[in-house]
Amino acid sequence: MKRVLSGIQPSGQLTLGNYIGALRNYVLLQEEHQCFFMVVDLHAITVPQDPAALREQTESVTALFLASGLDPAKSNVFLQSHVRAHAELGWLLTTLTYMGELERMTQFKDKSSGKESIGAGLFTYPSLMAADILLYDTELVPVGDDQKQHLELTRDLAHRFNQRYGDTFRIPDGYIPKVGARIMSLDDASKKMSKSNPNAGSYIAMLDEPDVIRKKISRAVTDSGREVTHDPASKPEVSNLMSIYASCSDLSLGDIEAKYAGQGYGPFKKDLAEVVVATLEPIQKRYREIRSSGELQAVLKQGAENASVIAEATVRKVKEKMGFVLP
Ligand code: TYM
Repeated sequence: MKRVLSGIQPSGQLTLGNYIGALRNYVLLQEEHQCFFMVVDLHAITVPQDPAALREQTESVTALFLASGLDPAKSNVFLQSHVRAHAELGWLLTTLTYMGELERMTQFKDKSSGKESIGAGLFTYPSLMAADILLYDTELVPVGDDQKQHLELTRDLAHRFNQRYGDTFRIPDGYIPKVGARIMSLDDASKKMSKSNPNAGSYIAMLDEPDVIRKKISRAVTDSGREVTHDPASKPEVSNLMSIYASCSDLSLGDIEAKYAGQGYGPFKKDLAEVVVATLEPIQKRYREIRSSGELQAVLKQGAENASVIAEATVRKVKEKMGFVLP
């Protein structure tokens, strides 16, 4: 049994990319491991958030966790801001992080490019993420491809701390799916599918109505050929749609190629839409039940209590090693 931790920001609608790259794997991992899954609200405020929208999104993402199959009897589900140790260790690790390391982060470069005033929190964001992971002696971190660089920095910080203050942190590994680690935008396969894209046609939100999903997939960009073959370099759009298909069904990429050989894109896209609808519709139904049941509060309270016990002990150990006088 391994320790597993991951998190998702409540900064907008969750997309099919979040589901395939991360959430779906949380649900699989909880069967065999000790899991901690959180909604990272402290990370969300690294860009401006409307308070009412932040509250709504935080509840919505928590409900989507449960609706996707996270079971509070198997996983600890909590909000990052409910466990104070995250902010505390985040600060301690910020003091260990080099400016050069943070400047190299591609997510920071993307999110700050073209902006006049850039919040300091957006810059130090990866130190807080390292704290999230290292607080729990985490062994496996299920994430999509875009978080690899942050995970590498987490490993570097853990090594640095261990070298400076003696063996303290476990070095975590990523758990990145072979297919679906980077779901691309439906209108431009050179960009990842993202909730922050202003064109809603570029992503499928987990809560999109079935007919909206059908429309978005029928309009998804494809190249001018007609072969359904997986070749990300020469056919990035079709390859992306195939990854979505494989992730939402039990067919492999090879099975999908064989199934649509010689048929062109039409039947493939039509079936893909139904496969995605069949994946998301039951989640949406449970989501509505969970939102109206009022069960979230109790789940979050229990999750935060369990997480705090471990996280507080880690912060105490870290502070002692760093030379703080403990209360
Ligand atoms: P966030 O909120 O941007 O995304 C949540 C998870 O979804 C994955 N993901 C994708 N996977 C495949 N294709 C896509 N198009 C796609 N878009 C997003 C992300 O890789 C991620 O796994 N920094 C993190 C949140 C975080 C965290 C942590 C993660 C904070 N602390 C500790 C792991 C452990 C983030 O912004 O994810």
